[in-house]
Amino acid sequence: MAPKIFLTGGTGYIGGSVLHTIATAHPEYDITVLLRKTPEAFKSTYPNIKVIEGDYDGADAIAGAAEMADIVVHNGDSDHKPSLNAIISGLLKRSSPGYLLHLSGTGIVSDWMDEQYLGKLNPKIWSDTYSLQEIKTLPTRALHRNTETILHDTITKHGDKINIAIMCPPDIYGKGKGLAKTHSAFVPMFVKEVKDLGGKVFYHGEGTNARSWVHIDDLMKVYLHVVEAAASNSNAEKYFNGNGYYFAGTQEHSQLDVAKEAGKILHKHGVIKDAEPVQVSLEQLDSMASFPGFEKLARYLFASNSRTRAERAEKLFAYKGEAPGLLENLEADIMDAINRA
Ligand SMILES: NC(=O)c1ccc[n+]([C@@H]2O[C@H](COP(=O)([O-])OP(=O)(O)OC[C@H]3O[C@@H](n4cnc5c(N)ncnc54)[C@H](OP(=O)(O)O)[C@@H]3O)[C@@H](O)[C@H]2O)c1
Repeated sequence: MAPKIFLTGGTGYIGGSVLHTIATAHPEYDITVLLRKTPEAFKSTYPNIKVIEGDYDGADAIAGAAEMADIVVHNGDSDHKPSLNAIISGLLKRSSPGYLLHLSGTGIVSDWMDEQYLGKLNPKIWSDTYSLQEIKTLPTRALHRNTETILHDTITKHGDKINIAIMCPPDIYGKGKGLAKTHSAFVPMFVKEVKDLGGKVFYHGEGTNARSWVHIDDLMKVYLHVVEAAASNSNAEKYFNGNGYYFAGTQEHSQLDVAKEAGKILHKHGVIKDAEPVQVSLEQLDSMASFPGFEKLARYLFASNSRTRAERAEKLFAYKGEAPGLLENLEADIMDAINRA
């Protein structure tokens, strides 16, 4: 029998790409999605996919859909506890162990709260295999730790009744595959701050702080492998629970390198007058991007390190980056951000 998939976040950059990837690779899968707004082209693009209308606060609908599914792929909001709890409670009602792929992010290992490394290269590199114990004991204030804690606790308590994979991508670039949002977060936010700074590409400190990156197309390969491992419903311990933590980065770049390349591109297209990056102070940085509950977001985005290695996918799936690198793809992403602004 075709596996039953329940997917959330299907209109988002990552979730829309995951939906497209699964539906295209496996038209035989029985897929249901949770959507709060159904894109116009949804029914014609995915005539066999069932839609449940609702949002992440509809715990009963989510738990019910999870109970009916063999595999839940939860994307969209990595920090939303009620929806995650609803999914877990639904999956635990199944008569046989179901599977959950939860989208987290390498923000969890970012050093943005440690002033000594703002704008400087941190030698710490995180592995999704040998650093796992350390990741599981990160402080509660670490990004996405609220939901990862739920997942680790569930594995400890109910590991015989559920199979969990924590998908933990770094910053993502490239055009998404979904029907609604197809752009990522970092590049548009950087371009906005460059404009707000009067047309200056920028870095903080030495600009040597580095982050891992993945093209959305490469990330989708990891997703597909893990979904297929779940669909095979065999050898679960090899891919899930204690062995189910997946980084996905394929490369690493410093903020200064990104700023230099962005400067050339923006200058070439007449968006800024001077291509050379400028150094910004901590005060300037702290006056940039912020969200309620995340006032110093720019420290995280532009001045922190999050250096991760996708060792598990490399070992299990011979995973490596095949799509264009961030700097090669940057012109397309920057122009997309400029054209949408
Ligand atoms: N993009 C990256 O580089 C990156 C890297 C690592 C981790 N992450 C994390 O991954 C998550 C998703 O990122 P993304 O870039 O794919 O975001 P996105 O493009 O904004 O997509 C969010 C998706 O989640 C849905 N959603 C959000 N809140 C919802 C709610 N309360 N009820 C129902 N649906 C809801 C949205 O639906 P609507 O279309 O209806 O709004 C949309 O489908 C975020 O938590 C982010 O922190 C992102």
